[in-house]
Amino acid sequence: MLIRLCYASNRIDHQDLLKDLSDLLATSIRRNRANNVCGVLYYARGSFFQCLEGEKADVEKLFNCISQDTRHTNVKILSQETILETTFHDWSMKYVQEKKEIDLFFKERNYPFFQPTELKEYEVDGLLKILLTKENSVINKSDEDNQQQSPKGYRRGYSGYLSS
Ligand SMILES: Cc1cc2nc3c(=O)[nH]c(=O)nc-3n(C[C@H](O)[C@H](O)[C@H](O)COP(=O)(O)O)c2cc1C
Repeated sequence: MLIRLCYASNRIDHQDLLKDLSDLLATSIRRNRANNVCGVLYYARGSFFQCLEGEKADVEKLFNCISQDTRHTNVKILSQETILETTFHDWSMKYVQEKKEIDLFFKERNYPFFQPTELKEYEVDGLLKILLTKENSVINKSDEDNQQQSPKGYRRGYSGYLSS
């Protein structure tokens, strides 16, 4: 039986954000591929929103592990449902970089900004629809180092990855 589980959490600031996200995504992509789990991850304003899709036992086992991860806290399941097919099957873990449209989605629902831990179950699908249409972003932490050494002095740093 396939399920979709969506949760939100607050990041614990213990090291460089870009390195944190990059490590987290690398692990997620590698392990989810091996475990036949797919989904999407969004991070902004200190909070994570993640959707996990796959066989019930695989998703539950993964979520159990994720919920104990010390890189975040206040882990709240927003929705959990059985599905006939996965939506994010093209990505073992899609990553969408920060989007103004997502802040707008929250503002339209009377939240001050992206505050996924407060999201109501019936609001989750709307957020998933936006995330599905957005492009997948790659976080390559070595890019930042390369760009710092670039002879042209061109740097995107965090902003290139984390806002648009
Ligand atoms: C916000 C967040 C999302 C995560 N998403 C995944 C994921 O999709 N897949 C995954 O394997 N690990 C994910 N992790 C990492 C796991 O919590 C865990 O560190 C990783 O699976 C390694 O597990 P291990 O302790 O068994 O080696 C995530 C962690 C955080 C904080």
